[in-house]
Amino acid sequence: MRIAVLASGGGSNLGALFTHFDEPRAAAVGRLVCVGSDKADSGALARARDRGVSTLVITDHQDGVALRSRFHEHGVDLVVLAGYLKLLPAEIVSAWPGRVLNVHPALLPAFGGAGMYGSRVHTAVIASGARVSGATVHFVNAHFDRGAIAAQWPVPVYPRDTPSDLAARVLQVEHRLLPLVAEAVAGGSLSLGADGRVHGHMGLMPAQPVPPSVRFCLTDNDLAPRDPVAPDTGNADAVARAAFAYDVARLYPR
Ligand code: GRF
Repeated sequence: MRIAVLASGGGSNLGALFTHFDEPRAAAVGRLVCVGSDKADSGALARARDRGVSTLVITDHQDGVALRSRFHEHGVDLVVLAGYLKLLPAEIVSAWPGRVLNVHPALLPAFGGAGMYGSRVHTAVIASGARVSGATVHFVNAHFDRGAIAAQWPVPVYPRDTPSDLAARVLQVEHRLLPLVAEAVAGGSLSLGADGRVHGHMGLMPAQPVPPSVRFCLTDNDLAPRDPVAPDTGNADAVARAAFAYDVARLYPR
């Protein structure tokens, strides 16, 4: 699938998508073909330019007809909102049914909806006394943060956490979870049914189980692999991403 990404800010989630779809397995099902932003000077557009990927500056975020035609020009099959702070026009949601994803830095349906973005989310989570937060990737409909949930992953909330501590911990999970869901949708293993429910699975189970020593543990060091000594791949980040994919896949057999 040809993937368009919309982002308003620094674009670290966009960076995680680029990294993920550089890998052969994901590259076989998806490619980022354009990046749009409502901010001409956003880090996200800078990342796209560095990669030689087409960029779109969205001057009127409500003009769905214009955005739809730009996406059609790029042959877009899947739209991923990676920190896009504007409500997506209905023309996009209806033109790509079941093909628009969004990442939210909390466990929806809690702590979501209009106005709930960035540090406001984490401030509300901490104020509530919740001991678990996390990231949600969901299919987008006409309402902020209300579409069917594709995948979630928890992170702990510690007593002395500041909103930025929690934001950083959740962002790590976003960087892992969003690309996995985008790959699963692009590859057809996960989809939004006509019944409005999510079908399929995060079919990324590796051939053999990843040894527990590199499985994720949600402790003070969050998503760092339990055993810093990565197996023969020599690439700790690739091993960590594989271990995360294994954990997520086990949670989402459908
Ligand atoms: C992420 O926390 C995302 O959940 C929220 O905005 C942030 C985007 O960060 N919507 P980045 O631009 O991807 O670094």
